[in-house]
This record gives sequence, C-alpha cells and structure tokens, in this order.
Amino acid sequence: FQPKVLAGKRLLITAGPTFEPIDPVRGITNHSSGKMGFAMARAAAEAGAQVTLVAGPVHLPTPRGVTRYNVTTAQQMHDLVLPQAASHDVFIATAAVADWRPATLNEHKIKKDGKKAAPTFELTENPDILAAVAALQPPPYCVGFAAESENLLEHARAKLVRKRLPLIVGNLGPATFGRDDNTLLVVDADSHHALPAGGGSADKLALARELMQDIAKRLRV
Ligand code: C5P
Repeated sequence: FQPKVLAGKRLLITAGPTFEPIDPVRGITNHSSGKMGFAMARAAAEAGAQVTLVAGPVHLPTPRGVTRYNVTTAQQMHDLVLPQAASHDVFIATAAVADWRPATLNEHKIKKDGKKAAPTFELTENPDILAAVAALQPPPYCVGFAAESENLLEHARAKLVRKRLPLIVGNLGPATFGRDDNTLLVVDADSHHALPAGGGSADKLALARELMQDIAKRLRV
C-alpha cells in the first residue's frame, strides 16, 4: 500500500531513449530501457497523482491510470512536453534524450556503393527539454536525472545549477541501462543522500516509490 501523498498533483514524466533518423531505415539512439521512467510513472500514480508519460521508443506496458504519449525524436518529445508543462505541478525528466540528430534527413535509404567513400553525417544539437521547462515562468517543480561515469556528485551539482533545477537524481550503480536494480544519489542545492535509504541497491520500482515520497515532502515545504 502506498500513501496518497501526491493526491491532486499533476506529474509529467519523460522516459526511454529517443531515436533520431538518418534515413528511413537507420538512426541514432541509445540503450535507455525506459524502466526507471515507467517505474516513476507507476509510483506517482500509486501515490495518487494524475500522470502524463511521454515515452520514446520502448516496449513497456503503460502503468495503470497513466496517460501515455509515444514519440520518436527529441524534437517531438520537446514539442509535446513544452505546451503541457505549465499545467503540471512536477516535471520529471528521466528520458535519455539524444544530444544530437543528423542535420538532414535522407528521404531514401542511403545505398552502399562500392566505388563511393563511406557517407559522413553532419549533426545538429537537439533542444534541451528539461532546461526549456525549467525556464518557464513559473516553472513546474523540475527533477532531472544524471547518468555519469565519474564524479557523479560534482557533475550532478553542476547540472542542477546550469539547468536551474531544485533536484537532480544521479545513477550511482555502474551499468544501469536495462537493469532492474540501482542505487541513486538524490542531490539538491545544499544536501545529498543515497537511495535506498538503508544502503545497497533496490529495484527501480522500490526506488521510484521512495523518490515520490521525497518529492511529495519537497512540494509541501
Ligand atoms: O545534460 P544531460 O543530458 O546530462 O542532462 C540529463 C537530464 O536532462 C536528464 O534529466 C534528461 O532527461 C534531461 N535532458 C532533456 N533534454 C535533452 C537532454 C537532456 O530533457 N536534450
């Protein structure tokens, strides 16, 4: 049983990877499984929130009671999230958004041609969805995620400041993509603590439930 600590709150959550097409059959993506974002959506709904989930390409069932939109690219995710963000109390960005996309989309499949050199691609930067939402006036309560391979606390703090966030959650576990368990580091402007609170690691749903309790407390103060 989960206490309904988020009753009456509206939460918007991004999850999964994005896929940036190169041509009709190829693209740039990453190994995000979407599991953490979907666990966050489920935990938020269990805690009584109205939840909107914007998911990149993943094969995961929609948690009960959650309104889900599917997108492919970072630009689509941005264009769906931005107009909705102002009507939500909390925005949680768990998606592993591709930082760059091919500058031009080839309408037809790029063919291999033994005589020609291998193709080269120019990349262009994708919009930073989280930074754009955090810049709204007034912004919803924004929670970012950070996947770093080193100096997690330092990088998470830097991200907090750069994107103007009240809270960021770092992945302490080594290879978390696709795994069911993890250890998180919850970082705000002047403190940090690890989850699960008892130490060790926990499955993503248990972590998401703890995080929702934590976020609910922060909304009340
Ligand atoms: O800057 P970096 O990608 O490390 O930041 C990670 C955080 O920012 C995550 O919460 C991610 O969902 C969000 N993000 C975003 N849009 C981007 C890049 C990252 O919302 N284009």
